[in-house]
Amino acid sequence: MKYPPIVKDFPHLLHGGDYSPEQWRATPEVWDEDMRLAKLAGCNTLSVGIFSWTALEPREGEYDFTWLDDILQRMAQNGMKAVLATPTGARPAWMSQKYPEVLRVDENRVRILHGARHNHCYTSPVYRRKAVEINTLLARRYAGHPALGVWHLSNEYGGECHCPLCQQAFRAWLKERYHNDLDQLNQAWWTAFWSHTYTDWSQIESPAPHGETAVHGLKLDWKRFVTEQTLDFMRAESAPLRSITPDVPLVTNMMGVYPGINYFRLADALDVAAWDSYPQWMNDEDDIHVAAFAALQHDLTRCLKDGKPFMLMESSPSATNWQPVGKLRRPGGHKTYSLQAVAHGADTVQYFQWRKSRGSAEKFHGAVVDHLGTPDTRVFGEVAQTGELLQKLDGVVGAATPAQVAILYDWENRWALEDSAGFLREKKYVETVSAHYEAFFAQGVPLDVIDMTKALDGYKIVVAPMLYLLRPGFAQRVEAFVKAGGTFVTTYYSGYVDEHDLCFLGGFPGPLKETLGIWCEELDGLRPQDSNRMLWQDKEYVLHDFAEVIHARGAQVLGTYQQDFYAGQPALTCHSPGDGKAYYIAARFGEDFQRDFARHLMDEAGVKPVLPRLPGGVSATARTNGQQEYVFVMNYMPYETRVDVGDGGTDMETGVAVAGTVVLPPRGALVFVRGAENPT
Ligand code: GLA
Ligand code: ZN
Repeated sequence: MKYPPIVKDFPHLLHGGDYSPEQWRATPEVWDEDMRLAKLAGCNTLSVGIFSWTALEPREGEYDFTWLDDILQRMAQNGMKAVLATPTGARPAWMSQKYPEVLRVDENRVRILHGARHNHCYTSPVYRRKAVEINTLLARRYAGHPALGVWHLSNEYGGECHCPLCQQAFRAWLKERYHNDLDQLNQAWWTAFWSHTYTDWSQIESPAPHGETAVHGLKLDWKRFVTEQTLDFMRAESAPLRSITPDVPLVTNMMGVYPGINYFRLADALDVAAWDSYPQWMNDEDDIHVAAFAALQHDLTRCLKDGKPFMLMESSPSATNWQPVGKLRRPGGHKTYSLQAVAHGADTVQYFQWRKSRGSAEKFHGAVVDHLGTPDTRVFGEVAQTGELLQKLDGVVGAATPAQVAILYDWENRWALEDSAGFLREKKYVETVSAHYEAFFAQGVPLDVIDMTKALDGYKIVVAPMLYLLRPGFAQRVEAFVKAGGTFVTTYYSGYVDEHDLCFLGGFPGPLKETLGIWCEELDGLRPQDSNRMLWQDKEYVLHDFAEVIHARGAQVLGTYQQDFYAGQPALTCHSPGDGKAYYIAARFGEDFQRDFARHLMDEAGVKPVLPRLPGGVSATARTNGQQEYVFVMNYMPYETRVDVGDGGTDMETGVAVAGTVVLPPRGALVFVRGAENPT
């Protein structure tokens, strides 16, 4: 399958970054220089207007678009495409002063003062009206402008508001969810516990540290509401853009596995998914874990729109200023880390930020252009080199990123799991998903990252770690998937509760019991110094943190515990109802088991890596446009390494044929093109 380019009639990978020309209005010679430097760096896009509300509307109802006209005209003259933002990520002081309702109220019920950003009330009718007004003017003014490429909605939607308007909206949302029936809500939330039964809708309040913390059903519904209210705000502010510029794609920059919003819901209202990626490369062997976690989030972002190419909306060309250690990217790394996004389905490489600001909080955040102001820096040089390579990769634009293995990352499951009290305080859901992901990733197997709402049938293997909460109908879909020949894997702490966070009665893993052919009796939480071992295929594997005491009820026992009162009982099982297999991993094992087990599944299910026999610290993935396959090989290690690329193909950077053993420099990458094996 091949997708159209993100920007209509612009079949190039986008390369550029967040640009704040309004900070340099007093020195327009900087604007001239920016255009010159952008060309030198091989950039064809800049993101503008992200925090420009005050520059666009300095006083209520008084507008000034002249500076933005000027910038967009310069971009058009230089053949560049703008990622044009709605300015709602931060608001003018006059607005906060005149309409305090736009200011968020935190969970302690304290209204914030004006300042910072990303902190407006999503419900406030005033804020919504103001957003629609300014967005309408922007859309009218720039509709049909040759530089307008993509709409960037607000910036990193996130957080929550507990103001009276939001409380009202929450109650209205609950009334709809529970069909106006308070008994239904009380039942779903199990409020008879601690005498928390509600007798009137008006008694319901969002969770608060000094209020309700114990009703888990309420907390889960509140998180769902926050997602829906954010989505509702986003739809409201994008309405004028949709109607005035229907051909310009709507995008917002998300944040990977950010816990606050279920991005699978948000993506419904977007044309293209995007995210801001800030992995902390450390330049040592641990970088394979950093790489895996970044890759997981690239794949997740791609899967938000079912595989359609996404945008790497922000990344730092060197260090950030907000991570605990501002470690610089080592030479050569920039190209590789940028290519990683493209390898996983991005059609853009964009930065925060284009030019370092002179004052305020982000003046020391990495940028393409430093305070020096010239192209004579190491970072600029690496960006320009990356730009040069990206210009040779037009063929990748719109190419698909096929995967036969899917990992489940589900926001509702995460919310409920992390809130559940017992067994072990730190659940480590994200780390666990990432560990299961990495086992395939590091062996050159492409993956999708999906939630419980997505179809399973296209996959050979689906791995769902810590599937604590089962959304309605999911267990039945797993059953059908396995019966039809699929391989399903899940772990300890799965199938405990339904969508309301109510425990399944009659034994865990609830409605998955039959498919998995097991019954879980108890879950043992282990201290950091505790461990156990499992024997599987004549090899011992150490386990930590969680050990479930399970019984086989039809499943074959593959591995058994070696210690403690459950020694000899199953720790790894496989059940085969129908044509497929359903595996249960009852405890938390380390990297050795993850790799061996992934290899076992790959062999059994016939999943082939993009390149066989990858050395440690290297990943390989592929994109295909139907005729050709682009293979991306990345070395994340601080030393050079040899990779066998088999028959190889043509190196996209040099145009030279590559085959057999290739030497990748430290933090080096290779992209080569070969004929597609399985045209899609
Ligand atoms: C986020 C924001 C940007 C900037 C960067 C810094 O991603 O969207 O405005 O603050 O962080 O890394
Ligand atoms: Zn509010």
